[in-house]
Amino acid sequence: MKKIVVGNWKMNGSLKLCEEFINHLKVSDAVEIVICPSFLHIEKLVSHMTGVHIGAQNCSEFNSGSHTGDISCAMLRELGVKYVIVGHSERNESINLILQKIERCLENHLIPIICIDSTENVRLFKDFEKLSLIAYEPRASIGSGLVASNDDITQTFQDIKSIANFKILYGGSVNSQNIVNLKMIHELNGVLVGGASLKIDEFNLILQNIV
Ligand code: PGA
Repeated sequence: MKKIVVGNWKMNGSLKLCEEFINHLKVSDAVEIVICPSFLHIEKLVSHMTGVHIGAQNCSEFNSGSHTGDISCAMLRELGVKYVIVGHSERNESINLILQKIERCLENHLIPIICIDSTENVRLFKDFEKLSLIAYEPRASIGSGLVASNDDITQTFQDIKSIANFKILYGGSVNSQNIVNLKMIHELNGVLVGGASLKIDEFNLILQNIV
């Protein structure tokens, strides 16, 4: 099955980085690519890139209304967004909030990428197994260079699979070098990449090395 590589730019990126991705990203049939820039950069990437999906890093738990500064799933969908990262640990959101956001995504035909750092709540997502992705991101591995061991990841993936047959990504300090080892994990459907998704050459190498 095709591997999925999601780039999470977080609160980074610029019009210049958008141009670099538009001009130099090596799109291939072998990998499904999802770029998640800031809300402000979504439209530019959607209108200038082919062969990749664009994702958002967050969405509102509401459909519309008096929620100053929020962005709804309907707005994202209208722009051409396909995926939404939900519940990233950097946002410190409650499970209730996360569940509401997942529901808004699904109502709007967006695919939530549900971030978890333990299997504690996976049971609550069981109904969405065919409609969402799970991203296992151990907190200690995010942005630290300390990628989790294949044994730890495999164990967690097996625990998740014993609950429901989710597609599962790993995230946390993924780069073009450690991907070579990570891709040996049998149940790995792809990766969620933060820091290493901000350099076009490094990101292209990840795409090349995951195959
Ligand atoms: P990192 O971030 O690759 O920089 O560790 C991953 C993430 O937070 O999604």
